[in-house]
Amino acid sequence: MRAPDRFEQYHRYKTAVAGEPLPLALIDLDYVDHNLGVILEAARVGHKALRLATKSVRAPAVIDHLVEASRGAIAGVMAYAVTEAALLVEGGHTDVLVAYPSVQASDVELLVALNAGGRAKVGIVVDCAEHLDCLEAVAAAKNVVVPVIIEVDLSLRLFGGLLHLGAYRSPLRSAAGVLALAREVRTRSHLQLDGVMGYEAQMAGVGENNPFTRALNPVKRLVKRLSLPMIRRRRHEVRATLVADGFALRVVNGGGTGSLTTTRHEDAVTEVTVGSGFLCSHLFDYYASLRGLLPAAWFALQVVRVSDPGFVTCHGGGLIASGEPGRDRLPLPHLPPGLRLTRFEGAGEVQTPLCGRGAYELRPGDPVFFRHAKAGELAEHFTEYLLVRGAKVVGRAPTYRGLGKDFL
Ligand SMILES: Cc1ncc(COP(=O)(O)O)c(C=O)c1O
Repeated sequence: MRAPDRFEQYHRYKTAVAGEPLPLALIDLDYVDHNLGVILEAARVGHKALRLATKSVRAPAVIDHLVEASRGAIAGVMAYAVTEAALLVEGGHTDVLVAYPSVQASDVELLVALNAGGRAKVGIVVDCAEHLDCLEAVAAAKNVVVPVIIEVDLSLRLFGGLLHLGAYRSPLRSAAGVLALAREVRTRSHLQLDGVMGYEAQMAGVGENNPFTRALNPVKRLVKRLSLPMIRRRRHEVRATLVADGFALRVVNGGGTGSLTTTRHEDAVTEVTVGSGFLCSHLFDYYASLRGLLPAAWFALQVVRVSDPGFVTCHGGGLIASGEPGRDRLPLPHLPPGLRLTRFEGAGEVQTPLCGRGAYELRPGDPVFFRHAKAGELAEHFTEYLLVRGAKVVGRAPTYRGLGKDFL
């Protein structure tokens, strides 16, 4: 599928949302299906299963659509909270990996309950003995076995750790460290080591062709080049060491959308996580390796003012993404083409001015379609996604927020 003509696309969505109150959020299922095809093909090259990062979608009907349309290639889901995992299990998901640890009693009790009865396998990431102790206490009391996944750190640490490039996540940075914790798991009668996970954030979460950080792009490329051999070696050593010690690892999870083309080639990896690529929020335009994904999610705002020739003001718009603050965290006006945020106002809380040649054609009442920087966070601002094919709304998918759920 070729990138659509943006004038034609604008008029298509304008027709689709006519009469709908703005602001609204929209997903184009044709582009979601296209992106799924691109991602499945990329994963097939490396013979890897996929795990869907639900945090980058946050709308159960869209998650289910992707899993069903993948025809088994998406083998499980990656949740970001135990409470979210409960919703996913309720919805029929049977292989859930909670990729972020929790030690609060309500989460531990819920996790144990989810694993009781064998309806689903819900594992959780651990990286220290305290994590194991809280899980074991409740699991033993209920006589339930809880799967755990040990996370190994894959950040690039230079100069003896003084320079840390990547995410601050697990303190385990060697195969020996992972093995020591795996042996601790073995001593807990109600925990079972299901696998290991390593998230190479400096590869998967950093676009090296970012137009908002041009001066830093060469540095990002260098960090990626230096990281890759270390990541491959560490994951390989972790797996080999655990297997040599008698552990059967069902899951060796790695990556994210931004590292799919490298993580897929690692023999040690059994599955690659992908989430953001399905909706292709604008930060995912800036990866050199990722070709062919098309934007599939937008939010639409109403033009309410024409303050000057070539300037319009929209109602709402301040949907700023998390992470290191910067202009790349702002939403991008995408349709019609030829619009940009103004230098000094950015995306405002209640009003967002736009300028550019596209503004001359717009009148109060017209919609403008924006892309969010991050795929999942868009869902936190809306109760539903309008699902569009062609110029028609073909369905509505409640977001977690629309279901009254706030997991973070
Ligand atoms: C453990 C893990 N895997 C994968 C991802 C990335 O998923 P996506 O494809 O949405 O970038 C993340 C994102 O933070 C993560 O924490």
